[in-house]
Amino acid sequence: MAEYAVMGNPVAHSLSPAIHAYFAELTGKDVHYSAIEAPLVEFEMMVANFRTHGGAGLNITVPFKQRAFSLTERLSERARRAEAVNTLKFTPGEPVFGDTTDGIGLLSDLRQNLGICLTNQRILLLGAGGAASSVVQPLLESQPALLMIANRTRERADHLQRSFTDLGPVQAVGLAELGREAPFNIVINATSTGLSQANLSLPDDLLTTRSVAYDLMYSRHPTPFMDWAQKHGAERIVDGLGMLVEQAAESFIIWHGIRPPTQPVIDHLRHQLNLAGD
Ligand code: ATR
Repeated sequence: MAEYAVMGNPVAHSLSPAIHAYFAELTGKDVHYSAIEAPLVEFEMMVANFRTHGGAGLNITVPFKQRAFSLTERLSERARRAEAVNTLKFTPGEPVFGDTTDGIGLLSDLRQNLGICLTNQRILLLGAGGAASSVVQPLLESQPALLMIANRTRERADHLQRSFTDLGPVQAVGLAELGREAPFNIVINATSTGLSQANLSLPDDLLTTRSVAYDLMYSRHPTPFMDWAQKHGAERIVDGLGMLVEQAAESFIIWHGIRPPTQPVIDHLRHQLNLAGD
């Protein structure tokens, strides 16, 4: 049976094995997918070992997406731009192929699952690390009026602006200067503050009562960003569970050449999370 896995650190609570098992069942594919925790200093060796022992594909998660980019031998155009890889495909006798499916996963969730239109909207992306860089290209391709990238460390936002400026209207700003730019129709949190529960300090007037607040993170309980959006009057507040399932579906297509249905998987996981959160 073909071996697949998600590699990260930590990875014990990853939903990816459950998602891929569900996809395999729904599509009739014979797939074994596990979770592998790689010690920080051994990531590259663990990838090589997995491949040597017949592994066919890996999903890469925090904190290794940029290191996976560096070890990939053949990149998709979107991964090259994002400088991040979340999907590796190993084919005997061929170079290691790397792609990023996070951005297209976010777009599928926003547009198809949630019915949110991005065209001509003012979009704010919070953060400029690996998670943020993976979603810039598809956001710009959806033709917003503006994509503002705001980051605590302004230089990282500037770097993203330079990398993507040919694709559409993108501007960089430091978090501290963000107040001048408000409000936005859609605010997407791509900082890692949900993971660390760190405080994300944001201006009070970023949102209107028609705004959408989207956190790339998901959890049983609302993230600090979702709580903030609730207090500041967003019309819709969404976590990243749908994106997680959609990016997994795109990886599944890369490996198995078939699109699995996603909505039953999202519904199932939401139900499980709600049960676990009680
Ligand atoms: P990831 O791969 O999850 O994006 P990362 O590359 O380490 O992880 O990026 C983390 C992002 O969260 C960065 O944009 C980081 O801001 P800096 O570039 O200034 O470090 C942002 N971040 C983390 N903690 C934050 C905090 N307390 N307030 C604001 N931004 C924060």
